Amino acid sequence: MPTVVSGKPIQKGRATMVENRKYKFRGKKPEEYSMPDLNPHLKLHRKMVPPVVVAEEAPGFKGKWGQAFPNPDQPLHLEIGPGNGFYLAGMAKRHPDLNWLGIEIRFKRVVLVAKKINAAEATNARIARYDAWQLQDLFVDGELDGLHINFPDPWKHRRGEKHRLMRTELAVWAASVLKPGGEIRMKSDHRPNLERVVDACADLPISLVDFIDDIDKVGAPWSDDLVTNYQSKFNLRGEPIYAALLRRDG
Ligand SMILES: C[S@@+](CC[C@H](N)C(=O)[O-])C[C@H]1O[C@@H](n2cnc3c(N)ncnc32)[C@H](O)[C@@H]1O
Repeated sequence: MPTVVSGKPIQKGRATMVENRKYKFRGKKPEEYSMPDLNPHLKLHRKMVPPVVVAEEAPGFKGKWGQAFPNPDQPLHLEIGPGNGFYLAGMAKRHPDLNWLGIEIRFKRVVLVAKKINAAEATNARIARYDAWQLQDLFVDGELDGLHINFPDPWKHRRGEKHRLMRTELAVWAASVLKPGGEIRMKSDHRPNLERVVDACADLPISLVDFIDDIDKVGAPWSDDLVTNYQSKFNLRGEPIYAALLRRDG
């Protein structure tokens, strides 16, 4: 059943996430940057392949991400913005029967995630340096078994609106790339971030399974939760953590 958790009218989604963007993200080689030595992580992330997938190679895996992993036939789970990689590497370690892919924009964080994956010896995890605004470059319809988004969009004020990934277009994209039965797991310290996506799903073949207002009091809507790096910061401040579990209809 469609559910609206914000009480606001549902926005109609567009077909892709990025029609309003003027550029096409492909990534660059170090020598193509004007100051390639400025960011040491830029060079380093290229030396960490695998588990790193560099930006210009990521679109080549579209529709065949299994080829990036030792066990190609395992279900594919995607985490957008894994940050330091604690969740991605931890979930990969917990679920060796699934393939885990992270998409992260910042070179330094790509390196951190790769280090976490290597330390965990999680051979079923990969981290692609890519822009989540360009996700339609990377996946065909029905390619994902799970989508995980933890503490995205740290802009609570209106002026950050244009940067927000958590919007109708993300829900529209998820409805096409998730397999029937595929799950979306989202956590945030900012309830409107989840509301926007959940409300958009009311208009899509995605159903809300559970919405939790304070997972420290009530527990997460899934049994195998891992506290992420940002989550532990909000926990220290005593702030509530919101979580939503959604499922692609069959
Ligand atoms: C607030 S941090 C949360 C990190 C982690 N998920 C956690 O809970 O600790 C948001 C993450 O999303 C990444 N990010 C932001 N915009 C992105 C984009 N357009 N594409 C890919 N990653 C992005 C940031 O670099 C950062 O690692």
